[in-house]
Amino acid sequence: MSILDKVVAAVTPLESDEQRAEARAKARTAATDGDWLSLVLDHHHQIESLFAAVKAATDSSSRTRMQKRLALILTGHSIAEEAVIYPALVKANEEAHSTKAYTEQSAAKVQMGLLEDLDPMSQEYLDKLEHIRGAVAHHVYEEEGNWFVDLKTKLPPADQTKITFRYQEEFSRYTRDGEESEETYDAMPSVSDDRVSDGTLGAKSRN
Ligand SMILES: [Fe+2]
Repeated sequence: MSILDKVVAAVTPLESDEQRAEARAKARTAATDGDWLSLVLDHHHQIESLFAAVKAATDSSSRTRMQKRLALILTGHSIAEEAVIYPALVKANEEAHSTKAYTEQSAAKVQMGLLEDLDPMSQEYLDKLEHIRGAVAHHVYEEEGNWFVDLKTKLPPADQTKITFRYQEEFSRYTRDGEESEETYDAMPSVSDDRVSDGTLGAKSRN
């Protein structure tokens, strides 16, 4: 196991499914329709469904396709949090929570990048996928359990409105571009692609 794997494994969830469900129910109560917290909760749910879909895929091409969909939503969501929600935590005097959140999401991004280079039908792939899923589940529990619920009460209404607008703006900026370029994305070679190893892909793109 690499050091980065250990970083991810170190935050493997200790909380139970019941505790996670309780945290989400509490966060849902704190959220109002269409506000930043409701959007974040919707995206957390979507990310969980996509992790399950990647794992459930029965062939290489469908697993890779679901992995790309997961990466699109996970990265779009995390970038929106990093650009908008975590700075708001600092503004609300929750700097330690903000720093921890950035660190955990960076580790997940590294592992999602490395996942791209593994054979999607291998055990190594499934092990790494499960590490990432566990780390993301714990991170989500921390956000829903208290960080974000506290943020809802600590900043005034004007800040809440701005956070909602900016979170939507950042998330849609990333995911809209991703949807438009999905065909290009699917055509990207993997590291095992012959066109990469014999250099023809690079030669073609230079012509
Ligand atoms: Fe999140």
